[in-house]
Amino acid sequence: MVGFANYEELSRALLALTRDVPYETANLANAAALLWQAMEDINWVGFYKMEDGALILGPFQGKPACVRIAPGKGVCGTAAWLGKVQRVADVHAFPGHIACDGASNAEIVLPLYVGGRLWGVLDIDSPVFGRFTQEDEAGLGAVAAVLERVLGDCVEAKHLPIDKVGK
Ligand code: SME
Repeated sequence: MVGFANYEELSRALLALTRDVPYETANLANAAALLWQAMEDINWVGFYKMEDGALILGPFQGKPACVRIAPGKGVCGTAAWLGKVQRVADVHAFPGHIACDGASNAEIVLPLYVGGRLWGVLDIDSPVFGRFTQEDEAGLGAVAAVLERVLGDCVEAKHLPIDKVGK
C-alpha cells in the first residue's frame, strides 16, 4: 500500500475526506482517487450504481469502461445479484466476465448497501493474477462500510433545506 500503513488507516482517511460532504458524486470521485493512489498493482477502480434495474458506471480511475451491466452478468452483476463479495484470482476463468480493459487479470467486487437496499458495487481490477487476498477482502470490507455510511448520509442530505447543506 502506498501512503497508508494498512486498510484501517486508509478507511480513516476516506472517512475524513468524505464525512460532512453531502454530495454523492464528489465523495465517490474522491474515494476512487484515494483507492487508486493507495493500492498497488491495480488498473481500474470505481463504482457501478443501481439505476433503472441495472448497474450503471459511476466515478472511477482507469480506462473508459462499459456503461451498463445487467444484474447477474459479469463479476459486478454476480456480486450485485448474490449480494456477495466476488474475489476472482483469474477473470478469464470466470464465466461471463466482462472485459473492459484487456490488462485485467484479477478482480474484486464488493456490493454496497444503503438503507437495507443494494446501492451498487465497488469494483477493482488488477493485471496481477491472484492480486486480491483474503486480507484485501477484509480490509476492503472496512472501506465499503465507510462508503455505505457516507452514501447513506448523502441520501439524507438531499432532503435537507438548502441553508443546512451549505455551499
Ligand atoms: N469486469 C467487470 C466489468 C467492469 S470492468 O472491470 C470496469 C465484470 O465482469 O463485471
